[in-house]
Amino acid sequence: MAKRIQFSQHGGPEVLQWVDFEPQAPGPQHVSVRNQAVGLNFIDTYFRSGLYAPPSLPSGLGTEGAGVVEAVGEGVEHIKVGDRVAYAVGPLGAYSEVHVLPAANLVKLPDTISFEQAAAVMLKGLTVQYLLRQTYAVQPGQTILFHAAAGGVGSLACQWAKALGVKLIGTVSSAEKAERAKALGAWATIDYSREDVVKRVLELTDGKKCPVVYDGVGQDTWLTSLDCLAPRGLMVSFGNASGAVSGVNLGILAQKGSLYVTRPTLASYANSAANTQAMADELFGMIASGKLTVDIQQRYPLSEAAKAQAELSARRTVGSTVLLP
Ligand SMILES: NC(=O)c1ccc[n+]([C@@H]2O[C@H](COP(=O)([O-])OP(=O)(O)OC[C@H]3O[C@@H](n4cnc5c(N)ncnc54)[C@H](OP(=O)(O)O)[C@@H]3O)[C@@H](O)[C@H]2O)c1
Repeated sequence: MAKRIQFSQHGGPEVLQWVDFEPQAPGPQHVSVRNQAVGLNFIDTYFRSGLYAPPSLPSGLGTEGAGVVEAVGEGVEHIKVGDRVAYAVGPLGAYSEVHVLPAANLVKLPDTISFEQAAAVMLKGLTVQYLLRQTYAVQPGQTILFHAAAGGVGSLACQWAKALGVKLIGTVSSAEKAERAKALGAWATIDYSREDVVKRVLELTDGKKCPVVYDGVGQDTWLTSLDCLAPRGLMVSFGNASGAVSGVNLGILAQKGSLYVTRPTLASYANSAANTQAMADELFGMIASGKLTVDIQQRYPLSEAAKAQAELSARRTVGSTVLLP
């Protein structure tokens, strides 16, 4: 018997329950991990609320964690019992003392990365890896716009962009968050609760605007983001913190300068054991070299995941949050 967070209906954080369950033995190509730390991510709130559909209800929640391999199924070769591992994608159910998932989704942890650090950085860090290095490979000297720069993904993006010699303009909703993003490496910040983002981007870029905008806020910032792009710029819409972007008329991309748009997901970049490991190696290398600091700003017992999600949704968290089984 083990404990996990599960939900039987969609709704607010109150639908999350801390329940007993019987973990399954891992099947072929699968591994059972005893979690030592679990990551909190905005996507978890989408599955809970019903914005994204879980395969069935009742459902487990969460896709990110780190721990020790307890059992391996048939055909698993690169992972063995006792290995320290972490994961960022996979079936829902990481909010659990024990999680069974495909071996291909796991990476081995270097000794220098703690379980808490891994749970705080795997999903968000691999996301920043693909956003800045693959979706649009940013170049030294470029000026880019990144929304919610003091959040989990944003905090890592500020540091990674700085390490690449990129001028990241980060949007934030308060003076405290602006200070934080600046301290992490943002070149400039815009407080979008009181400043005109497009005007400030024009000023900061001498009228040129940005070749790429990274937008995890969604509905509220969609039009602003398009207006911050230079002609033929790329809009990377990678999240829905304020609600999903919908009803887009493609003509708007023509009107605003032959723009490109992509709606990427981590799962389609970390889509094989080799790709996931290569992305994680780069991430762990950034941490080992001191260019990236894993900044855990909030810790909760896993049983209090509902409280942690409420704080995340209310914009009261900064950096990463971990849940401890
Ligand atoms: N596509 C992918 O592969 C992928 C992977 C990871 C994450 N994501 C997305 O990246 C975004 C950031 O994820 P995260 O886990 O690191 O969360 P986070 O940035 O720590 O939290 C979300 C932030 O969004 C901002 N925000 C703006 N409007 C909001 C609203 N109406 N409600 C709540 N927050 C609002 C807030 O920052 P301010 O107060 O400064 O506005 C808030 O702190 C999310 O949209 C997530 O879904 C996408």
